[in-house]
Parts: sequence; C-alpha cells; structure tokens
Amino acid sequence: MPVSTLHAPEPAKNGMFRTKGVEQSIRDTEDPEFALRKSLSALDLTVFGVGVIIGTGIFVLTGVVARQHAGPATALAFVVSGVVCALAALCYAEFASTVPVAGSAYTFAYASLGELPAWIIGWDLVLELALGCAVVAVGWSGYVRSLLGNAGASLPDFLSGTRDGAFGFDLLAFLLVLVLAGILVVGVKLSSRVTTVIVAVKVTVVLLVIVVGAFFITGSNYRPFIPPAEPSPGGGGLAAPLIQLMSGYVPTDFGVMGIFTAAAVVFFAFIGFDIVATAAEETVDPQRDVPRGILGSLFLCTVLYVAVSLVVTGMQHYSRLSVDAPLADAFKSVGHPFWAGVISFGAAVGLTSVSMILLLGQTRVFFAMSRDGLLPRTFSQVHPRFATPYRSTVLLGVIVAIVAGCTSIEELAELVNIGTLFAFVVVALGVIILRRRRPDLPRAFRTPLVPYLPIASVLASLWLMLNLPAETWLRFGIWMVIGCVVYAFYGRVHSRLGTAR
Ligand code: ALA
Repeated sequence: MPVSTLHAPEPAKNGMFRTKGVEQSIRDTEDPEFALRKSLSALDLTVFGVGVIIGTGIFVLTGVVARQHAGPATALAFVVSGVVCALAALCYAEFASTVPVAGSAYTFAYASLGELPAWIIGWDLVLELALGCAVVAVGWSGYVRSLLGNAGASLPDFLSGTRDGAFGFDLLAFLLVLVLAGILVVGVKLSSRVTTVIVAVKVTVVLLVIVVGAFFITGSNYRPFIPPAEPSPGGGGLAAPLIQLMSGYVPTDFGVMGIFTAAAVVFFAFIGFDIVATAAEETVDPQRDVPRGILGSLFLCTVLYVAVSLVVTGMQHYSRLSVDAPLADAFKSVGHPFWAGVISFGAAVGLTSVSMILLLGQTRVFFAMSRDGLLPRTFSQVHPRFATPYRSTVLLGVIVAIVAGCTSIEELAELVNIGTLFAFVVVALGVIILRRRRPDLPRAFRTPLVPYLPIASVLASLWLMLNLPAETWLRFGIWMVIGCVVYAFYGRVHSRLGTAR
C-alpha cells in the first residue's frame, strides 16, 4: 500500500484495500436486523476471558512441552509466551475500544488495513476459533474417557478418537460441540452464566494444584533447570521448527532454543484473551470494559500458568511427566490419587467452557463478515427471540463437531497457534496505521509507545511463528491460498462496501 494512503482522510471505496471506516462499522451494529443484545460487563468479559484462556494448554500441553522441549524451564516458556501475548493484548485493547463491534481482528483490519487484509484475517481466525474449538473438544473427550475409566466404564476404540495413527471417531467430542452450539443459540446471557460456574470450578482446580502440589516439590527435580540441548529424535525433517531449519544446524530439543520451541507450543494456553474483544458489541460500556477484560484475564492466567508449571515439574521429574493428564498424574506419582481424580474432573468441566467460547467467537466473526457481504447473509441473521445468529451457530456447530470427531490434537494445535499469531501481527500493524489515518478517533484505551510497542508485538509474534514446525507453515499457507480463492470468487463480488448497498 502506498504510504500516502496512510494519511487518507476518507476511507477508500474501491479495490481490495477499500476500508469500511470506523463510524460505519459502529453504525452497522445499530441496524435492528443485525443487532446483538448489549448485556455484558467488565466482570463478564474477564470471566469470559479466563473461561476460554485456561484449558488444554495448561492441562495437557504442559506435560508434552516439559518432556520434549524445555524440562523445568517450561515456566520460562510460559513467561515468553505471556510477554508476546501482553504486547498483542495492548494492541487489541486499543482496537477493541476504538472499534467496539463484533468480529475482533477482522473488524479492526477492515477499518484500518482494507478489505482484502480483513478477509485474510477473518479466514485466518477460523484456524484459531473453529479449529481451536475442535482441538479443545478432543482434549475434553480424553479427560472424560479417563474419568469413565476410573468408574470402570469405557467406549469402544472406534468411538474413542484417532490414536497412534489408527482412526477412530471421537463420539464424545462430537456430542460436546453439538450441545454447546445448542446453548449458544439460546443466548449469550445464559451461556455466560453457565460459563461463570465452570470458570469457578476450573480456577479452583488450578489453585488446588498450586497450593497442594507445592507441598510435594522435590528440589532435585529442578536440576538442571534448563536441560542441555540434544538433537531432536526426528532430525531435520518438516517436523523441526522453521527457524532451526533456516539456521542450518541440526535441530535440537531443550537448551535455550528449546524454551522458544516450547513457548510456541504453550502459546495455545493463552489463546482466548483476544476473544474478549469479539464480544465488544455485546458489552454495555465497551470503551471502558473491553481493555479491562482483556488485560485482566491475561494477567491472571500468566501468573497461574507459571505457578502451575513450576509446581508440576517440581513434583515429578520432567522426563516422567504424563503427556495425557500431566497435572493429575503428578499427584498420582506422589501417592495422591484422590486429588488426581478431582483435578481430572475439574479439567473436564473447564475445557467445556473453552470449547464453547471459541465456538461463540467463530460465530461472531462469521456474523461480522456476513454483515459486510463477504460471506452469505445467512451467517448474520439473528433469531427474533434470542437475538443470536442462530443459523450460523447451528451450521458451524455441525461442521466443527464433525472436525472434532475426526481429528487428533497433536496435528492441529500448532496450526491454531500459527493462525492466531498471524492475527496478532495484523492487529499490531493496524494500530499503527489507524493512528496515522484517523488520529481524531476517540480511543478509550491507547496502546503505549506507538509505534514501538506494536512493532515489538509484530516481531515477537513472528519469532514465535518461526519456532513452529515447517509443516505447520505449509498447512497454514495452503489454508490461506484457499481463502484467497474464496475471496476472489465470492467476497470481492458480494462485498456491501464494494456494491454500496
Ligand atoms: N487457551 C485455550 C486452551 O488452552 C485455548 O485450551
């Protein structure tokens, strides 16, 4: 884009970089045909945030990462990831308080970067939200099966998901997504009430791990805190982090680079704070409450993650941590199966809210894209009584349920991460551009140190992306190419902005 357009006072009307304009974005939300109910407060948003942030990342990935990439230094990986997210959160907060309409990064990009970048980000968010929902549902199903196992019950293998390369349909994950979609159709207020109870259970369980687990820490488990680097078992194939392949050395696990590899994976544990921004349009006072909700929930979760990972790697040597249920199994390893059962139960309950809020975010992004004509109108029609986009919720619920039924976690969590990090990059660039284009807009929350902080956010997000496997980049590239084709043949032609309807 030519630099001169950065100063354009009026939004461009033609071409792929036509921007929607902030005022128009806000006006659209007032059209009764497309209006969502405004009922959420800062506390609701924080609960929403914590509800979606704490999930599979801390309950499942902590064990995988400690064992394969970072050992006790997993706590440092959480700090690295937390810093990357905090930088992005400061950018999200400014955008969400300036453009308080449904759609998150998509809406922000439309108001600042233009239609094509907005489309790209909306398409990209499917990776984070829909795919993230499916991944978490599969994680949930694992915990529920483990609880069923404790009670002496079990599902046949062909209904227990794909394991060790052998396909199985994940019936529990499939059913979970369908039920959650049903709850979302009935309304945000009901689902946020359900979420509040679930979040309380989840936070209690996490605190329990920290407080009770602290009594079982053995100091020798922390030595060495950063295990020395060793060659990756898979060698240099596509499974190695892109940055390590690019540097030309034999890829390694552990050591300092291992901390970054781990950070790129546990990043999944932070996904969700940006979802708070997607609920801006349903917030009573978005200018004040959205930044509070985003930063509050992010800070709370970072502290809890660092504490949990320190406790767990202190309870059990990292090389022996379980990769399925590491928090619960650490308690089994110190002879406390009762606490292990309580933690498994809490994890199963907690993952429900994560899955639900991710699905909610996805329906709202599609809602916004459809309102703009980039997707069929059916995605933005709201229910006359519940005031929710019921058609898109049902349709997405069915599709995500099928994906969850047929998918294994490992393959997809990293794809979710790369998609989300890419969205962070676009949002940070958007902050800089919108400040230059529309310095006059009221901003309830201003990102400090612009443009330096957004630039740091871009670089930090790119760094984590580079620490993801090369094959993840490949899948990401293919998904985005498909998105560009869909835009060329549908979105570009039907855009409300382009057709001036
Ligand atoms: N942050 C969410 C989780 O860890 C997506 O499950």
